Amino acid sequence: MYQAVLFGKISGNGIFTKKCHDYFVNRYRFKKCLLTTSCTDALEMAAILGDIKVGDEVIIPSYTFVSSALAFIRQGAKIVFADSCADNPNINIDNIESLITTRTKAIVPVHYAGVACDMDKIMDLAAKYNLLVIEDAAQAIDSFYKGRPLGGIGHFGCFSFHETKNIISGEGGMLTINDDAFNRRSEIIWEKGTNRAEFFRGEVNKYGWVDVGSSFLPSEIIAAFLYAQLENMDNIQSKRKEIWNSYYERLSPLAKKGFFKLPSIPDYATNNAHMFYLVCRSYEERSNLIDTCRENNILAVFHYMSLHSSEYYKGKHDGRILSNCDNYAECLVRLPMYYEMTDDDVTRVCDVLELEYKK
Ligand SMILES: Cc1ncc(COP(=O)(O)O)c(C=O)c1O
Repeated sequence: MYQAVLFGKISGNGIFTKKCHDYFVNRYRFKKCLLTTSCTDALEMAAILGDIKVGDEVIIPSYTFVSSALAFIRQGAKIVFADSCADNPNINIDNIESLITTRTKAIVPVHYAGVACDMDKIMDLAAKYNLLVIEDAAQAIDSFYKGRPLGGIGHFGCFSFHETKNIISGEGGMLTINDDAFNRRSEIIWEKGTNRAEFFRGEVNKYGWVDVGSSFLPSEIIAAFLYAQLENMDNIQSKRKEIWNSYYERLSPLAKKGFFKLPSIPDYATNNAHMFYLVCRSYEERSNLIDTCRENNILAVFHYMSLHSSEYYKGKHDGRILSNCDNYAECLVRLPMYYEMTDDDVTRVCDVLELEYKK
């Protein structure tokens, strides 16, 4: 960051932004990347680029963060919420086809906890019905589906570098553009509807207003912070995987006794150790567990509330019961998971859980 200040250019699209873009292109072979100020912004860019408008329908899992839906609501689309799988919180692909109508424009798979959705099935459906696929890869940096990086499979991928993620810049995000047809317009929308990026590359001799857009690009200070994180990617990832594996090993005996379920990673997916969660047997047991953890100074927290029954959307939902989603909303709990966590910290959390289930 100090270097960014020394370079004397701290607004967006400078040296550190380019370094980050190059890093992602080289490491993951993403075709085109644009840093944004959040994953929410990346989703909004995807919704604009995908020309989502009033009357369109977009299929989204109900068990997700509000931003996955918000970007499309802002364009005037109707959200058709899908249920999760029984054995993991990702969208249940087997139910999607029945949700597709002539108005469906896009599917938004969310790779929950950085674990891949079954992308081959989603891409096949998208090809059959001519739909856009916008991967919500907010939690999915450095995670793969059958060897392919998440965020690089659909037409667009949207990442978050919010401070709660594996790789952070306070607030921050990135849009990947995996279909060349969107390349030029993506830069224009990124830079307030102007062709400024082309001007800076010397491709045009002045720039002006050519389309809609917004100020989606982050400052060089954010990009410089992000780049320092990227330089430590392998170290960060291997530390997180150690923590995740320790939890898994220590808690397996309790899971085998049936007290809760551990995360399940399908064969086609890798684990980027974004999150360690348990699925309790009931809402009451989860509440007790969270309370016990709090009494022991351990921050265990639940996650999403079902979006289809949120205050904003419940009147607009078509009434389908999304029971797996509701189950995760009521029974899933996340255990502490952060880079600085030591073995002793993991042991302390697991000891508290063991005591809880001996009661
Ligand atoms: C699945 C999902 N999508 C989108 C977002 C929004 O990310 P951001 O805070 O970078 O806008 C989050 C945030 O946690 C998320 O979990």
